[in-house]
Amino acid sequence: MIVTLQVNGRSHAVEVAGWESLLWVLRERLGLRGAKDACLQGECGACSVVFDGELVCSCLVMAADAEGAEVTTVEGLGDAGGLHPVQQAFVDEGAVQCGYCTPGLAVATAHLLETHPDASLDELREALAGNLCRCTGYGAVLRAAVAAQRGGAEEAAP
Ligand code: FES
Ligand code: FES
Repeated sequence: MIVTLQVNGRSHAVEVAGWESLLWVLRERLGLRGAKDACLQGECGACSVVFDGELVCSCLVMAADAEGAEVTTVEGLGDAGGLHPVQQAFVDEGAVQCGYCTPGLAVATAHLLETHPDASLDELREALAGNLCRCTGYGAVLRAAVAAQRGGAEEAAP
């Protein structure tokens, strides 16, 4: 079947098989390898993307259900002008080690700050709890999230 969807602002018409997940389509058909295939069971968050405004595990979304959807992956966070503030904060705070979890964490953090710009530290912690990281211990990740949040608040200040 052909599925038409928007990914990072670009329209794609993709031939997909019934068994294919959105994650598979992003990685193998569209060449967007940012979302990672780790557990493939909705447990680790490495495949996180924004799907019609909701943060989802793309390994759990069937490609056939993505007809007409708008999807944002980590490749869609920054632009030609540079990194997204969340990506920059991850770099600045050293929140990246092996990097395998990083795209999912960056997408989840950016989505959280967009939908809940005043999130408390506990809310940040809870929101990112579904993104498993085996390297950083989360301290740096949380510092990056707070730094990005403060940066956003400063940008919004008159
Ligand atoms: S690969 Fe999708 S949640 Fe782990
Ligand atoms: S940086 Fe390695 S799993 Fe998170």
